Amino acid sequence: MKLAVIPGDGIGPEVVAEGLKVLTGVVPDVQTTDYDLGATRWHRTGELLPDSVLRELRGHDAILLGAVGDPTVPSGILERGLLLRIRFELDHHVNLRPSRLYPGVSGPLAGDQAIDLVVIREGTEGPYAGNGGLLRKDTPHEIATEISLNTYFGVERVVREAFRRAARRPRKHLTLVHKTNVLVHAGQLWSRVVEEVSMEFPDVSVAYCHIDAAMIYLVTDPGRFDVVVTDNLFGDILTDLAAAVSGGIGLAASGNLDPSGANPSMFEPVHGSAPDIAGAGVADPTATVLSIALLLDQQGLPEAARRVEAAVAFDLATRQPGSTGRTSAIGDRLAALASS
Ligand code: NAD
Ligand code: IPM
Ligand code: MN
Repeated sequence: MKLAVIPGDGIGPEVVAEGLKVLTGVVPDVQTTDYDLGATRWHRTGELLPDSVLRELRGHDAILLGAVGDPTVPSGILERGLLLRIRFELDHHVNLRPSRLYPGVSGPLAGDQAIDLVVIREGTEGPYAGNGGLLRKDTPHEIATEISLNTYFGVERVVREAFRRAARRPRKHLTLVHKTNVLVHAGQLWSRVVEEVSMEFPDVSVAYCHIDAAMIYLVTDPGRFDVVVTDNLFGDILTDLAAAVSGGIGLAASGNLDPSGANPSMFEPVHGSAPDIAGAGVADPTATVLSIALLLDQQGLPEAARRVEAAVAFDLATRQPGSTGRTSAIGDRLAALASS
């Protein structure tokens, strides 16, 4: 496997190092190439993602990313110019974000309800398309717009992928999350596409939930969700809450997929560069390790993926209550468990 590695900023390099320990323990023939991208490179050279690097990334089987974003760089420069550019250029339209409350992990919810859901977040459209603008800047009449782009093509392909995944799960239930009561144009498109595609998946039951109510149910009744399909921005917000109720952001994994296989997919923890704890060696690398399991599945190595997940499950079940632990100690444990 040819793997491109972008450690990035803040805790990115710390968690990626542990993820690679686990990966190389379960798959011996991984050939990694490190790409030095992020705040340090931007300060040094002004570069975010040179075209030559993008070309090289395309030549890999997959990409592992830590996190990008740094307080010394204006907000959005690295996020848009590096991370979102990769997602857009490599057509990562399916952003896969599973959340599970593992046995032994206590979430913040009373009664520790069962949580086992998968968010399929659209990855290349919505307000992230970046076609807004500023008019009359620095005047009292300044106007800022962020236009949410929703194409039939883009919505249909991600909704179809969500149905495919729902059909393969025991509960076969799909929830569209949107805000059709206000965002009526995009809302109608999403609802109509879900209805259309549902005809091809008669075994999958379908529900709808407004994004605001979805925030209630994620906290009061998360068990109602199985597969959730939603747009780029709602999916971003929803998956941080889903992480928080499933043991914390330190456990939340993601894959940015181009299911057509035309481009390498990219795997990364849901969390960011966590400047507040960067360098302290206390970041939980489990989200990155679970992202490695998603990578192994996508690379057609399901047995290795299950070993990594089993290692995480065992480790979480036996961690001291409330303990966080050192990044490298958790990585060492997970690597030993997964490769034994
Ligand atoms: P964040 O996810 O970096 O941090 C939010 C909180 O979660 C912080 O308190 C942090 O300490 C904690 N946290 C995050 N990861 C953790 C881990 N592995 N173990 C333990 N605690 C962890 O979000 P933020 O503070 O909003 O953003 C910081 C920077 O990261 C910003 O520049 C933002 O744009 C960027 N960001 C990048 C990505 C990405 O690269 N995919 C994702 C989210 C945010
Ligand atoms: C995430 C992050 C990114 C997003 C940012 C950093 C661009 O929050 O991966 O969840 O909004 O997609
Ligand atoms: Mn996010």
